[in-house]
Formats: sequence, structure tokens, C-alpha cells
Amino acid sequence: EGLLSVETDRKEIHFPLSFEEWEQKAAGMMQPGGYGYACSGAGKGETGRRNEEAFGKWAIVPRMLSDVSDGDMSVTLFGRTYKTPFLLAPIGMQKLAHPEGELASVKAASNLNVPFILSTVASHSIEEVAAAAPTGSKWFQLYWSNNEEISFSMVERAEKAGYEAIVVTVDTVRTGFRETDIRSEFSPLSKGLGKANYVSDPAFMKALKSQDDDAIVASILENIQTLSLHWRHIAKLKERTNLPILLKGILHPEDVQTALEYGVDGIIVSNHGGRQLDGVIGALDALPSIAEAVQKRIPVLFDSGIRRGTDVVKALALGADAVLIGRPFLYGLAAHGQQGVEKVIEGFTRETEISLSLSGIANLSQIGRLKMVRA
Ligand code: FNR
Repeated sequence: EGLLSVETDRKEIHFPLSFEEWEQKAAGMMQPGGYGYACSGAGKGETGRRNEEAFGKWAIVPRMLSDVSDGDMSVTLFGRTYKTPFLLAPIGMQKLAHPEGELASVKAASNLNVPFILSTVASHSIEEVAAAAPTGSKWFQLYWSNNEEISFSMVERAEKAGYEAIVVTVDTVRTGFRETDIRSEFSPLSKGLGKANYVSDPAFMKALKSQDDDAIVASILENIQTLSLHWRHIAKLKERTNLPILLKGILHPEDVQTALEYGVDGIIVSNHGGRQLDGVIGALDALPSIAEAVQKRIPVLFDSGIRRGTDVVKALALGADAVLIGRPFLYGLAAHGQQGVEKVIEGFTRETEISLSLSGIANLSQIGRLKMVRA
């Protein structure tokens, strides 16, 4: 018996803790092209670096003697309450990270009461993901299609499958200039990993001229180049769905004014993790002026550069209602599948909880008591 328990002890998995450790482990698990695609950014990587550095340039001025014994970080979004202010960011083609792909991450999110945002270019379809986590909260991220019947068809499928919000990504009218992928000639779509929602879509299949694999990939690539994307498309989408519509990738406060005029239900401040236009403002630095323009009329979510719990506290203090975890969960998925994603979320939960207590914040409605200064 003694020996057996030693065996079990030895088999105990030691999970990474910090973002850097997860990233290192993921790098060892993924194909080089896939890892390069996940970790790199556009251009010379200026924005990707700026996203992370922005957190070091803001400092929390904590409050003392605040009785934080009733700690509660729950947040309510579109009528549903979550225990933690996190969501999983839409990340396409998660089979690049792990054979179970999105099915593993949606189960992890669902187990921990975290909304999962499914990408248009996912490696599992809207319906498969819904079936894997029927009670979990799921949102659908839409890459607007040039053929808008395809967009509306996907939105309708998401509605039927129980998704609770539509996230329209607006910073991706074409793919950014990503040197790493150009050099490695890596195109995840061409590997067929991002086509699940297309090949299962009646509107897409109807418009398809030839059903061979190359024609399908070419057609998807053509569909997601939406240079004409405009506010008028948002107005049309509003007419077609009753689900809340969020715009992901807003950085300018005047775009917030227009979004409010168009009846948009939520904003996601994001620069796509530095993967789209290089040289843009660090997402955290864009957040205060967006929050100011929104004036709490609709939820403001945030991503791009969230790596640990203290980052979460800073984003919340600068005006976000909740944050999207991006690369950290993808690396968790690559390293340990569903369990890895759960460990990453648990790590965020633990550090955010501790950091809020130490800042003198018992519950998120008090976050305005924190002062943030430039460090
Ligand atoms: C993304 N992101 C993204 N966004 C989106 O709206 N649809 C998508 O399909 C994808 N796909 C995708 C793939 C990979 C590999 C990455 C890393 C990112 C962007 C994502 O939702 C989020 O905005 C960023 O990941 C945030 O930056 P950090 O915090 O991950 O650096």
C-alpha cells in the first residue's frame, strides 16, 4: 500500500502556474507552425508588446481597513450572473492546440461558470460545441461574411443552439500582416481546421461552386475578407436577431457613440492581441476613454494582454465590467486539454480574488473606490 501511494504521488501532475510557464509548455506541445501562429502578432510585434507593457504603466492605489470578509466577484451580463468576471475569448481553430479543440475548452468553461465565445473559424461547429456543454453559457463570435446570407444563417444556427449573444469582430476586415505566418507559410485554414461552421452551413454550401477541399478553403478565405464592413451591416444584423450584439475591437471613443446610436448592446475593447494592425494603442490604454464614453449604459468588456489576476484588477479598475482570457487559456488547452483550461481559469480566479481583497475591494460594485495612477 505504501508503495502504491508513492507511485500515485509520482504520477501527480505538476501544472504550470504563471503565463510564461504555460506558454513554454504549450510551445513544446504544439507544431511549430501552429505555435508560431498563436504566439506571434502583426508587423514587428509593437502592439503585442505594448499590450503587456501597458499593465506595468498603471498602478493600483489600494484602500485599507475596508472589511473585505464578504468577498464576491460575481458579475451580471445580459441577465445572467457569473461567479467570476472572466470569459474565454473567441480563438479560432483550437484543434491546433489540442485534438479535442473547442470541445475541451467549452467543457472547462461550463464547469467553472465562465462564458465561452465560439469563433466563426472554429474547428467544431456551433451545434457540436453546444452539445458538448448544453448548460454552459455560450456566445457566438461572427466574422461577417461577404455573402450576408451566410452571416445570418450562422446567427440563426447560434440562436437555435442556445447561444446567448453575438460578438461581431470589427477589427478583422482582412487578416493582419503576420510575418511569422508568411515566413512559415502557415495557413491554418488551409489545413482545414477552421471550416466546421462553413461546411455545416446550408447558405455556405448552397453558394459553393465546387465541393473539393481547395475550393472550400478558397471560398472561406473570400468570405471573411469583408473590406466593405460598415455600420449599416450592424443595423441589418440588429433587425435579424434579438440576441445582444457586442462589437469586438473598438478602440476609439467616437466609435462608441456610433455604436450606441446603432443600438449595440456591448463593447469589447481589444486590438485582437496585437494580431491585426501593428502600431495601435495598447488595449489597456484605450480602455479609460471608452469607459468614459459608455458611461455604464452597456457592458464594456476587455481583452489583449491579460496574463494574470492583477491585470484583471487593473482592467476592472479602469472601467471594464469583465475581461476575456485569450492566449493563456489556449496554452492551457495545448498543455493539458480541458484540465489545463480549468487550471488556467482557477489560477486567474485565485489571484484576482486575493488581489481584490488586498486592494480593499469586497465586491465588484466597489471597484470605483480604487485609484489608478500612471506608474
Ligand atoms: C485570436 N483572436 C480571435 N478573435 C476573434 O474575434 N476571432 C477569432 O477567430 C480569433 N482567433 C484567434 C486565434 C488566436 C491563435 C489568437 C491568439 C487570438 C483574438 C482573441 O479573441 C483575443 O482578442 C486576443 O487573443 C487577446 O489577446 P491576448 O490577451 O490573447 O494576447
